[in-house]
Amino acid sequence: MEKLFKGKTVILTAGPTYEPIDPVRFIGNHSTGKMGYALAECFAQRGAQVKLVAGPTNLQAQHEGIAVIPVTTADEMYAAVKQLAPAADIWVFAAAVADYKPKVVADRKIKKAGDELTIELVKNVDIAAALGKEKREDQFAVGFALETDNEASNAREKLQKKNLNMIVLNSLNDPGAGFKHDTNKITIIEKDTATAFELKHKSEVAQDIVNLIWERLYV
Ligand code: CTP
Ligand code: CA
Repeated sequence: MEKLFKGKTVILTAGPTYEPIDPVRFIGNHSTGKMGYALAECFAQRGAQVKLVAGPTNLQAQHEGIAVIPVTTADEMYAAVKQLAPAADIWVFAAAVADYKPKVVADRKIKKAGDELTIELVKNVDIAAALGKEKREDQFAVGFALETDNEASNAREKLQKKNLNMIVLNSLNDPGAGFKHDTNKITIIEKDTATAFELKHKSEVAQDIVNLIWERLYV
């Protein structure tokens, strides 16, 4: 494999975030982190230094070019990314960050009482958008989106709002794609183009994404 990314630093977010409710409970999601880890492997195989800021997953990075920074909450993920981002050439936001977190975290286990329980939630920091504001001309940012309606136009809106160079749109309309599957069907949305790919294994999807990033940056 040609080490095209030698000397480049990539920061990647991956996996879900867990937002605590009390010492034993949290709000999470079904992200496995597979897509983010596949991207990390692919970049590392091509010579990049990869910093993988990962929410809770069962996955393990294989390549010695990958440094994993484990985090739990969106706030922790943001703190880690913010610190590493200025020195990185490429940012890839593949994490399924919880959009909201409990407003207060109980310091004791919440006991069962009454027939209803309401937990007040507040918005989490948008890591991609916050970093987008700091992005320099020489940096390249990639986001992910999973949409069910108006897919391309919603993705394009996110591209602009978060100051991303590229957004990887996951199709939910395809059986075999998305959460819990080893395969994915993506369309890569850029300012003026949309590039559609076939349903394939996540490791091959990662290669398609990395190839296009390479083309846009250095060809
Ligand atoms: N993202 C992020 N921080 C958040 C939420 C999202 O960094 N708090 C990133 C994701 O990693 C992804 C991109 O933003 O790369 C788009 O995420 P998505 O959930 O599709 O977009 P949202 O802006 O959260 O909008 P919504 O969930 O309402 O569609
Ligand atoms: Ca979201």
